[in-house]
Amino acid sequence: MNEEQRLASQQVKQEKDYSKYFERVFTAPSLKEAKKRGKEEIKYNNDFAIDEQFLGMGNDRTFYIRTYGCQMNEHDTEVMAGIFMELGYTPTENIEVADVVLLNTCAIREGAENKVFGELGFLMKYKRKNPEMLIGVCGCMSQEEAVVNKILKTYQHVDMVFGTHNIHRLPNILKEAYMSKEMVVEVWSKEGDIIENLPKQRLGSIKAWVNIMYGCDKFCTYCIVPYTRGKERSRRPQEIIQEVRELAAQGYKEIMLLGQNVNAYGKDFEDSNYRLGDLMDEIRKIDIPRIRFTTSHPRDFDNHLIEVLAQKGNLVEHIHLPVQSGSNEILKIMARKYTREHFLQLVDKIKAAIPDVALTTDIIVGYPNETEEQFQETLDLYRQVGFEMAFTYIYSPREGTPAAKMVDNVPDEVKKERLHRLNAVVAEYSANALKSYQGQVVEVLVEGSSKRRDDVLAGYTRKNKLVNFAGSKELVGQLVKVKIIDTKSHSLVGEFVEVVKEAEVQRS
Ligand code: SAH
Ligand code: SF4
Ligand code: F3S
Repeated sequence: MNEEQRLASQQVKQEKDYSKYFERVFTAPSLKEAKKRGKEEIKYNNDFAIDEQFLGMGNDRTFYIRTYGCQMNEHDTEVMAGIFMELGYTPTENIEVADVVLLNTCAIREGAENKVFGELGFLMKYKRKNPEMLIGVCGCMSQEEAVVNKILKTYQHVDMVFGTHNIHRLPNILKEAYMSKEMVVEVWSKEGDIIENLPKQRLGSIKAWVNIMYGCDKFCTYCIVPYTRGKERSRRPQEIIQEVRELAAQGYKEIMLLGQNVNAYGKDFEDSNYRLGDLMDEIRKIDIPRIRFTTSHPRDFDNHLIEVLAQKGNLVEHIHLPVQSGSNEILKIMARKYTREHFLQLVDKIKAAIPDVALTTDIIVGYPNETEEQFQETLDLYRQVGFEMAFTYIYSPREGTPAAKMVDNVPDEVKKERLHRLNAVVAEYSANALKSYQGQVVEVLVEGSSKRRDDVLAGYTRKNKLVNFAGSKELVGQLVKVKIIDTKSHSLVGEFVEVVKEAEVQRS
């Protein structure tokens, strides 16, 4: 069965389940399908163009996209905004009056999903006032059948649901939604292709996101991402390098390379052994001040990459390296496929090569049946590594993942209390890391004025520390030297010293 036939049969099957919705575009998701990893080659589509029939569809119409979740979602929003603009739509900042509202959703934890359902409730009120409003749900939640079923049942004011694999079909989906009285549902549960040349309306002019790969094949037992984002597939190096070069030419100062597991970059290339280390080695030669990447998986973090990162230049000395747990038993049932010892060895190697590296991480507490001792091992590992910051979460069961079926004997109260204790350690270490900057002169990329005060500028160091200092707005977008005179719990306070001279910008 080819891809189209498979999607068609899925469609027929689902239509049977929802016979009252017969007359409309309906391709519902299936987590079971999404889990499959076949041997089919990845298709690269380099000829994307918006069909002429759709141009002008958005004239005199506005759009608003609300984004939840990770940076990949933020970047997808930039692509969808780019498509809207090509169709003639104008962005609006007022959700209540927008002609099209999209919620670009995240499925990573229950809390993320509940926010979206809450927002859908609000949107019902706006739609009563503005019945012409089209409401769409896209992103990772759309890839889950339970969510689509709930939307069909409870949120009938939604006009369209589409997933992460078909954002390039936005013009077609909008057209269908304008023509159909029924909800348009088009979600593909496939492994995924790579579509180049999509338009992008970037949110910033200083920092930019660049996808280097899509999907995830790690299938950590708690995680929904491999189901919502498809298989690991890497963009070709030349496409990435060209995009970074163009951004540099446009004056961007910092690039964040994106992937769910960037260390697996290139593993899907059948014709070469090109990996993340090779890519970073080329990108480091591009004339742009800062390059970051996220997210790393400890398992595929190889020596070549460490050697390349150690050359610094525009490759910043900050690595986000999610560990999830410090207990070997928990790591095993999470299917992280590394041990505490392997993780610590990797950290030692990184620290030996880049002595001033800042390491940050992600941690899940309260995994099913996590014992106090196992939790203590996580605290211990945190201290041993000396992470400078962490995103910490209570485990949230995700329907369709193996962990969701595990019996869990850890009461919610205990989970909350563990999170609390972990956060105290995280706060202690990040405060200490910040205190060590006292009196130092650091390089700051100025991003704008502080949220609270106009004459206070805000920017980040190479190690991603927030710095506030008094200065003129003309400095926004520039790299400056700032002397740190005070430290707060989450940020540094400094005094402007001077603009970093072109010749001093740390490049290769
Ligand atoms: N690809 C990245 C992380 C993506 S999700 C990686 O593997 O490191 C971001 C973070 O959300 C994860 O690192 C994990 O800490 C957390 N997370 C993922 N699924 C979760 C779940 N079911 N419950 C709680 N936290 C979860
Ligand atoms: Fe999820 Fe694991 Fe993949 Fe990260 S590596 S996205 S945690 S399955
Ligand atoms: Fe959320 Fe999807 Fe990102 S689940 S974290 S938006 S990949």
